[in-house]
Amino acid sequence: MPADDTLDATEGTAWVRAVRRDELPTDGTGLALEVAGRAVALFSVDGEVRAIDDSCPHQGGSLGLGVVLEGEVTCPWHGWHFELATGRNTDGLAACVAVHRTRISAEGDVEVAWGDRSVRPERKSERREGCS
Ligand code: FES
Repeated sequence: MPADDTLDATEGTAWVRAVRRDELPTDGTGLALEVAGRAVALFSVDGEVRAIDDSCPHQGGSLGLGVVLEGEVTCPWHGWHFELATGRNTDGLAACVAVHRTRISAEGDVEVAWGDRSVRPERKSERREGCS
């Protein structure tokens, strides 16, 4: 892939190949893998690919090994819940995980955005205390 195809010129974002789209499970489970040296959890939900940091902010459980239901992943260790679209904890806790944008390449690969603007919540009003 040419170098120009890996950069989003409007945001200075690098797109990093993670996995083939057809390798993602579609049964409510995800994948935990390393993308550019960072542990990431990938999920296929309602036809979209979601990417969040893999490490649960509680005690580091692998969220990629969790189960997704109605857009939320349940940590397999102690059951905390995180909304895949925002990374927010939905148990009322001041905890969240970074969310990364994804796209599908022409070759059918899932690519994860890597850059300052790839981490959400993007709007300060959506952030909870304790989340960055
Ligand atoms: S490590 Fe995730 S809930 Fe405890």
